[in-house]
Amino acid sequence: MGLFRWVPLLLLLHQLCLQISSSSSGSVWMSSYPLERAKEPEFFEWMVGIRRRIHENPELGYEEFETAKLVMRELEDLGIRYEYPVAVTGVVGYVGTGKPPFVALRADMDALAMQESVEWEYKSKVPGKMHACGHDTHVAMLLGAAKILKERQEELPGTVVLLFQPAEEGGGGAKKVIEAGVLEKVEAIFGFHIASEIPIGVVASRPGAIMAGSGFFEAVISGKGGHAAIPQHTIDPILSASNVIVSLQHLVSREADPLDSQVVTVAKFQGGGAFNVIPDSVTIGGTFRAFSKESLLQLKQRIEEACDQGTSSRAEVQRHGDFLEKDRPLFPVTVNNKDLHEHFLNVAGDIVGLRNIRDQQPLMGAEDFAFFTEVLPAYYYFVGMKNETRGPMPPAHSPYFKVNEEALSYGAAMHASMAARYLIEARPSGSAAARGGHDEL
Ligand SMILES: *[C@@H]1O[C@H](CO)[C@@H](O)[C@H](O)[C@H]1NC(C)=O
Repeated sequence: MGLFRWVPLLLLLHQLCLQISSSSSGSVWMSSYPLERAKEPEFFEWMVGIRRRIHENPELGYEEFETAKLVMRELEDLGIRYEYPVAVTGVVGYVGTGKPPFVALRADMDALAMQESVEWEYKSKVPGKMHACGHDTHVAMLLGAAKILKERQEELPGTVVLLFQPAEEGGGGAKKVIEAGVLEKVEAIFGFHIASEIPIGVVASRPGAIMAGSGFFEAVISGKGGHAAIPQHTIDPILSASNVIVSLQHLVSREADPLDSQVVTVAKFQGGGAFNVIPDSVTIGGTFRAFSKESLLQLKQRIEEACDQGTSSRAEVQRHGDFLEKDRPLFPVTVNNKDLHEHFLNVAGDIVGLRNIRDQQPLMGAEDFAFFTEVLPAYYYFVGMKNETRGPMPPAHSPYFKVNEEALSYGAAMHASMAARYLIEARPSGSAAARGGHDEL
């Protein structure tokens, strides 16, 4: 009897508490709450399960059909609205008010064409394909962030766009996502990569250029084959190709500013198969990298010229495929927005603590997140997973690549907090939506 008299009062108190928590909107996001949530055993195991299922069934760029299905099923379970397909196999989910401002979080979904050499229970079941770059964890972590955000949806003054992107590994999936128009009203985008060489619990980044721009090249050098003992009757493409390679080595060492980091690597040299035959042609190919658009385009032009001029006067160079941009678009430089660096420091300070934020040196690796940094304010960082006591961690793209799954909680928490706090506190006052832009995405 007594209890019944108390029920209305309890309800009232409950209502009051709800009001207080939503009126102090943002408080959970200004704390380590997202990390604590993502570390709770049930939550953590759920992410681990997702990551392992994706790891067992790796799919290459623009073929992420099963991965996309898994993502959609999880979003449905969470009650999150999504669009599919975006950019062939991409999935885009929406959490929050459904109204502006919009902020995006990105995870890449594709695996690599390589055989896994790690013997473990959840080893890749697909011969010749492996998640050796951790994109399986990126998907699990973005779903983790989706869950944290959805649970606190009332405390989001705007909409978080969850971008599950195809084909990061050379296919330029980010470019297709932009072309699909799903980011048109988005004010800022965040992404990260797990890192084997950064300790667990540590995050790292820098303002400005963080990952190089990159391109690929291929040239076929044609001569005239013949007997190796009678070179005077041949035009030797092997010698010509060697001259081209020497010329290519001058581009960075003799022409570039030593303070402007660049690289040209010839990684492919194919021609001839016998000890006593000069082949008809040789194919060379490789990659070039730089930290500014100007340097990248300059390298591209000089590689073209070196391939033309570096050959002997008698050999002809036929450049077929050239810069292979149809299949492997030139990746721009990944440039972190300077204001968003401040935002990253604020968020990371609450999630991992100031002591656990590191400055990241720029990396020669390229990342197709760069396409986003060209069209909207964007920020890319690294989430550590090294744990010395568990032994060395082979680097990404190694057939022995391993993941410390404890990093899942950190990635999920960073993602969730980066987005939520952007909506709450980090938006520039003059931004499009703040000027009263669009109502719906
Ligand atoms: C590193 O791994 C050990 C052994 O599994 C574990 O006890 C420890 O908590 C881990 N350290 C961190 C910082 O996660």
